[in-house]
This record gives sequence, C-alpha cells and structure tokens, in this order.
Amino acid sequence: MKLEDFISAASFELHQEVTWQAPSNIALIKYWGKYGEQLPKNPSLSFTLNQCVTTTTIDCQPNSSGRLSFSFEFEGQAAPEFHPKIDQFFQRIIPFQPWLKQHHLNIKSSNSFPHSSGIASSASAMAALSIGLMDLERQGGAAISESYFYQKASFLARLGSGSAARSVQGPLCVWGETPSIPESSDLFAHPISTSVHPSFQDYQDAVLLIDKGTKVVSSSQGHALMEGHPFAERRFEQAHQQLALLKRAIETGAVEQFIRVVESEALTLHAMMMTSQPYFILMHPNTLAVIHKVWEYRKANTSALCFTLDAGANVHLLYPKAEKEKVNDFIARELSVFCQSGQYILDEVGSGVKKV
Ligand code: PMV
Repeated sequence: MKLEDFISAASFELHQEVTWQAPSNIALIKYWGKYGEQLPKNPSLSFTLNQCVTTTTIDCQPNSSGRLSFSFEFEGQAAPEFHPKIDQFFQRIIPFQPWLKQHHLNIKSSNSFPHSSGIASSASAMAALSIGLMDLERQGGAAISESYFYQKASFLARLGSGSAARSVQGPLCVWGETPSIPESSDLFAHPISTSVHPSFQDYQDAVLLIDKGTKVVSSSQGHALMEGHPFAERRFEQAHQQLALLKRAIETGAVEQFIRVVESEALTLHAMMMTSQPYFILMHPNTLAVIHKVWEYRKANTSALCFTLDAGANVHLLYPKAEKEKVNDFIARELSVFCQSGQYILDEVGSGVKKV
C-alpha cells in the first residue's frame, strides 16, 4: 500500500452516529524516534491489551461551512484541553478523508482505566476515533474491503499518535518496515501473521502505577531527542535485530529468549533517554525496586514473569495465564507497596477494536 491508496475520493453528506471501543497496547520492541509525518525510525512490535480501552461515540452531521468543525466531551464534560491535539489530528487526516470538510462531529469519549492514572491513553483514544471515522467513511458509501478498513484505521491513528497505529488489531501488531516481516509497513500497523506459540496466546499484563503525575519530558520531546543522538543509528539497527529474535521466540515458544529481548528493549528505551542531550530520567526509585523484585522472583521460582516499561515510571508485568494466580498474589503482597496509592491494573492480551 502506498500513501495515495489512503486518499478517499468519496463525497457524501451523512447523518450518522457510531460508537467504537479501542484498547491500549504495550510495545515489546519499542518505537523511539520518528521522521516525516509520524513515521517510525525503527520497527516496533506490541501486545494489544483487552481491558484498558477508550470508548468513543462520533455523531456526524452535515455542515454547510465547507470546514470541518467538532465538539469534544471527555467522561461527560466539555474538554477544551484536548482540542489542540484533536485539531492537529484532523489537519493531518483531512487530505485522506476530504469528506470531513462537509461535516460537524460531536465526539464523546471515555476511558475504562482511571483518569490520570499515568497510563498513556493517546493510543486507545486515537485508535477509537480513527476506527469510528472509517466506519463513517464506509457508511458514506466508499467501497472498502475488510483489510483496507483496518489498515486505513491504523494509518489514520498513526497520524494522531504513532503507537496508536498498533491499537486497531491484535494480539500482536508490527509497525515499521523490517526485513523479518515482509508485509510490514511504516504507514500502518497490522497483526503479525506468524503462528503464535500457545505459550504466548494468553499473556497477562499487570500495569503497576508507580507514578501518576505528568511526565517531565513528553513522548514527542523524547522522539525529537533521537535526532542527532550519539547512539541513534546503532539503536535503530538493533531494533530490527531484536524484532527478528523476538518473532522467532514467539513462533517457537522460546520463553527465555522472549524475556531477554523484552527486558533489554525496556532498558534500552530508558538508556536512550538517559543518553539524550539534554538527558532525562523517567524511571523512579520504585520502578527500579520493582525490577529487582521481578528478577528475585524469577530466580526463586520457575517463572516466565518479566517486565517492560513505557515512556514513564510505570511497570508492565508480562506473564502467561498459567501463572496468573501466583503472580497476582505476588503483586498484591510484594509489589503493590511500590505503586502510588497501591494502584495497579490487571489486563491481558486482546484482539483489538470492537463496535459498540
Ligand atoms: O506514540 P507515542 O508518540 O506516544 O510514542 C510511544 C513510545 C513508546 O511508548 C515509548 C514506545 C512504543 O512503541 O509504544
């Protein structure tokens, strides 16, 4: 698929309301560094989550002004603080959905996870909005195949927030061109077609909320600091290599290899932050305390429990369903003390967007 393939020629006037739910995702191979319009400097691979979702209703009505207008409510309240981000998203996608210029959209959104929990909600939010817009495009009469429907939703979501491209489908999505996955693309993410070994089909993800405050450096600033970063080129190459190793581990059920790559990716992401100019640290002392506890637990038990980190202080714990009871007990007894207000969220791998 090329960029031009995503330009809709459809022109229509629609009176329609749609509601979609989209999940968050957690990257195993990390996207860090971008170019052009929201294109990744290296490929990434993620687990799609199940319970951490954004639900978005779009009421679409004709508008004679010739310019897209919208209103936005978050959790039942007008939320003007989100307007600049949504506005930027629409400016980027209007060339691909010119029919938007003939409409006014009333958008209402809510999250299943606690507000300001420190969980990045831009991935689920942008994916929910994008899939809803694709549903409207389809209802407007555009001839759309099933695969194009999801690919373009991912393409649009990417223009809102890069990692949102990976929240449309599941259980494992790749985004960014890489030789080990010939069908991969920088323009959109799609589920990896590789056979997923049974060991990885029912993974759990416990999100430990270490710090719920605003991050000192945003993801956008962090991506930008990869420009001219002394280790950037080597890191981008490494991401391709790690992705190939992880893909093989997922196909063959090589749990130890999976752990080595996933934990290395998390620490590499944060190492890139610590070696940026200016340098910064998003981990907190409790992030490190949890990591050490996980390593001790693995040493003392026959366990596949491992951790990964997003661009913040929170820790995601990954483990097979067979270990759910034991690990959840370990979290409650020994790790919740490191979480802000003792809060954590138990989630699992899911399959992507759903129409409500
Ligand atoms: O989608 P963004 O621009 O918020 O970047 C996300 C970057 C990481 O979460 C750190 C890694 C990833 O691949 O999701």
